[in-house]
Amino acid sequence: MRGIAVLRRLTEADGVSSLSGLERATGLARSTVDRITATLARMGYVRLDGRDAVLAPRLMELGNAYLAALRLPRLLDAHADALADELDESVSLAVGDRDGIRFIHQATRRRAMSLSFRIGDLLPAERTAPGPLFATEWGETEWARWHERRAADPEDRGFPTVPARSRPIDEAGDEDDPVRRQQPTSGDDFEERTAEAREAGWALDDQLIEPGLVALSVPVRDAGSGRIACVVSVVSHTSRHSAADLRDTLLPRLRAAVAAMERELREAPPAEPAAPSGLAGWTGASKQELGREFIESLARGLTVITSFGDGRAELTLTEVAQATGLARATARRALITLEHLGYVTAHGRVFRLTPRVLGLGFPPLSRTSLPQIATPHLTQLSQRLRDSASLAILTGDEIQYTARVATSGVMSVNVTVGSRLPAYATSLGRVILADLPPTERKLGELRPLTRYTVTDPERLTALLDRVREDGFALVDGELEEGLRSIAVPVRERGGRVVAAVNVAMHSSRRTPEECADKVLPELHAAATRIEADLRVAGRFRRVPNA
Ligand code: PHB
Repeated sequence: MRGIAVLRRLTEADGVSSLSGLERATGLARSTVDRITATLARMGYVRLDGRDAVLAPRLMELGNAYLAALRLPRLLDAHADALADELDESVSLAVGDRDGIRFIHQATRRRAMSLSFRIGDLLPAERTAPGPLFATEWGETEWARWHERRAADPEDRGFPTVPARSRPIDEAGDEDDPVRRQQPTSGDDFEERTAEAREAGWALDDQLIEPGLVALSVPVRDAGSGRIACVVSVVSHTSRHSAADLRDTLLPRLRAAVAAMERELREAPPAEPAAPSGLAGWTGASKQELGREFIESLARGLTVITSFGDGRAELTLTEVAQATGLARATARRALITLEHLGYVTAHGRVFRLTPRVLGLGFPPLSRTSLPQIATPHLTQLSQRLRDSASLAILTGDEIQYTARVATSGVMSVNVTVGSRLPAYATSLGRVILADLPPTERKLGELRPLTRYTVTDPERLTALLDRVREDGFALVDGELEEGLRSIAVPVRERGGRVVAAVNVAMHSSRRTPEECADKVLPELHAAATRIEADLRVAGRFRRVPNA
């Protein structure tokens, strides 16, 4: 439970917090915070960076387990993306989470003035368009919970990603604050809005969450039960559409998209149960190694979450125990704790994950780019070899550096993030070019940059074919005399090369043989770690390359 409090705090702090900050925010003893963060670091869920704990992409496997079990993202994300393209407005998918709504997908149009929420963000139902639609299915318990929360938290402090709810101006005492003045007192008419939503089958958000932000929502219903599976929203800004205008112009197209989504849900074949992911055997080994610093119960509790997934939405205690390799009694304790904290619900003999699982790190991590994923691994690589390490992508016939960790030693090629170099004469460029079919390789003008530069197209093609076979490129003095570099590709899920990592040095530092013997294995190891993070981070969204 305390471990989860630390993860939640780190999520609220946008993914980074000092250890003393965690101590203050959670009220835990420093030694407890140290043991929890050591355990999470061991699991690959946080990185310890000096005095800070930083959420790591691997943590997204918890939210991925929920999203995979839910199935909706697999089936509906492409529909939402197509609608966003068609309308040229942002489109989101949300599920109900108790008396809030939580986003499971965002197809965002980037625009100035537009605030956009992230996958996993939780908003109070009454200040959104999807909220009244979900509330049409609420019973007495849910309404009682909603009233209680409104009374206990009049400023929505329990929703750290939303602007504070406005109070009557005389009470707030900040009538000079233009934002507060502009914002209507929101949420008080929620019961009326719910009754209207029940009648209409759609709902609007007219700047309830944020001045300027307007949204129109329609529910997607499950074929079998007729219940709301999720809600689709089109989100715009008052500079382009008023709320009423959004409804008048876009409702028919939103409804057509929802009909297609409902058809998709009806016709999709049942999910194939995936093989259960990680066995928990390693937690015992970690305990042996780290002793008191490793909190086995935390590791086991989190492992239980990852036993859910594709075709594994509902699991019995026995299935959880089998999937994780935990003893039944241990698995039961973990499930009971997770249920108590609201991450799991029990339905007869089976257990299910709740949307709250997305609150464990997903919002900040769901914006992570490839350079951000790669940087800690480049740092480690550079420290081990005492050489500079870089990540680059291909743009046209040039490579562009997107992440770089430099050693203090002088290196004549002065590159920084953003620098471009001709792809044909660099190791980074060659490994990316080598992955492309020969007709798609843009080589540009082949100029001799030094007396060693290969400029003959046929020789270059032969070199690239060789690089493709070898899985690495070593370039010696072709970009600049005295500069030796060696690179390997970084592949995404499907196997396509999306970037390359290299190590560069003065040629007097190591012979080409030493590069192959000492540097290459380290480079491959770093690329493999980057690829593993990329697979977790890219399972339900596209990770930006730069
Ligand atoms: C969003 O997707 O950002 C969104 C959707 C509905 C709202 C507010 C924001 O009511």
